Amino acid sequence: MSDDQDETEAFRALLRGLRVPHAGDLPVFDPDTAPDAPLPLFRRWLREAAESGEPGPHTMSLATAGADGRPSQRTVMLHDADERGWHFGTHRTSRKGRELTENPYASLAFHWMRPGRQVRVSGRVREAGPEASAADLRGRSPAALAAALAGSGRQSETLGSYDKLLRAFEAAYERAGREPDATAPTWTLYVLEADEVEFYQEEARRRHVRVRYLRAPEEPGGWRRELLWP
Ligand SMILES: Cc1cc2nc3c(=O)[nH]c(=O)nc-3n(C[C@H](O)[C@H](O)[C@H](O)COP(=O)(O)O)c2cc1C
Repeated sequence: MSDDQDETEAFRALLRGLRVPHAGDLPVFDPDTAPDAPLPLFRRWLREAAESGEPGPHTMSLATAGADGRPSQRTVMLHDADERGWHFGTHRTSRKGRELTENPYASLAFHWMRPGRQVRVSGRVREAGPEASAADLRGRSPAALAAALAGSGRQSETLGSYDKLLRAFEAAYERAGREPDATAPTWTLYVLEADEVEFYQEEARRRHVRVRYLRAPEEPGGWRRELLWP
């Protein structure tokens, strides 16, 4: 066998040998006890993920697609989840920002390994407005403010050299320290108003539980709930 084939075999063996790490027994999800609306369940699952020691339970995958219909994804942080929707912050001029301008529909995915859970949230995304965007930035750490200042108008653009980035960050750290209320002009708080939320609970024998909420204004509580084959 050539070195390339050895490497390919070893890689496949590695993948086959990997297991999803659960912290002991998985929680049992009885769909009959699920609330009428998804938000309380989402908040409970996020809190339980944090309590289980899941690293970064507030990180999520955000999928967008522009006018060409080609999806793109990246990780972003969840800043809030309330009656208005799921909140995240980014630059309006970034790739995702541009795609959201062209097509405001997006999807979020959370995966919490320790409790063996996944949540998917889809719907329409709206800008929360300049005041809410500035407040979002003010509520964050000096390092996050510096990163937003450095990235303003530039995130997702081609970077000529790493040195340029270092210089931009030096200036941004300095400004964030001096001006904690500085605003990054392109920083935007977005809110995804969900019309579909799906909860997935792994089960040891793969009889995974999937519960999907679909927005249904005619239903009491405004949502319809159904089970899905895993
Ligand atoms: C753990 C983690 C959290 C992140 N959080 C954010 C975030 O909240 N906002 C953001 O704009 N980018 C965040 N990023 C960077 C994005 O994943 C992405 O690289 C960047 O936003 C550019 O994406 P785009 O070119 O598709 O617009 C995060 C990356 C990681 C790994």
